[in-house]
Amino acid sequence: MGSLLRLTVNGTTYELPVAADALLLDVLREHAGCTSVREGCGVGACGACTVLVGGPDGGRHSVSSCLALALRYQGAELTTVEGLPAGDPVVEAFVAAGATQCGYCIPGFVLMAHELLAENPDPAPAEIVDHLAGNLCRCGTYREICAAVAAAAQEEGRS
Ligand code: FES
Ligand code: FES
Repeated sequence: MGSLLRLTVNGTTYELPVAADALLLDVLREHAGCTSVREGCGVGACGACTVLVGGPDGGRHSVSSCLALALRYQGAELTTVEGLPAGDPVVEAFVAAGATQCGYCIPGFVLMAHELLAENPDPAPAEIVDHLAGNLCRCGTYREICAAVAAAAQEEGRS
């Protein structure tokens, strides 16, 4: 039996009838148009399905939406890459660093980078690697991705 799920995604509030076993990943893709949220492994091991969930203090933390029952996020505020502003410094840094090949993994990495930089605006290289350790890139652009996150940190530090 379905329940009504109220969810704010990238500033838009949805009220959706969802099944008790509906996954957040599927709700975001099918009902909120967030096709940047991708299924890679489906078992919490690749990070392609990462979204950010807002907290009461305004902080946001990452969630693997492939493992998340949608109804657990009743009333939550979510951010996906579609909700980032034009000229987002992390996205710009990824482009400038040539961090994208097929691009499948990139939204997850971008959101993880946002989470890291919100917690630690000046991460050491090892801290960047550590924070991104749960995200996989089959194209192997890890070096460029880490360089992009470091560049975004520098850019945000200047602004
Ligand atoms: S699809 Fe969710 S972690 Fe891989
Ligand atoms: S750019 Fe292809 S999987 Fe990462």
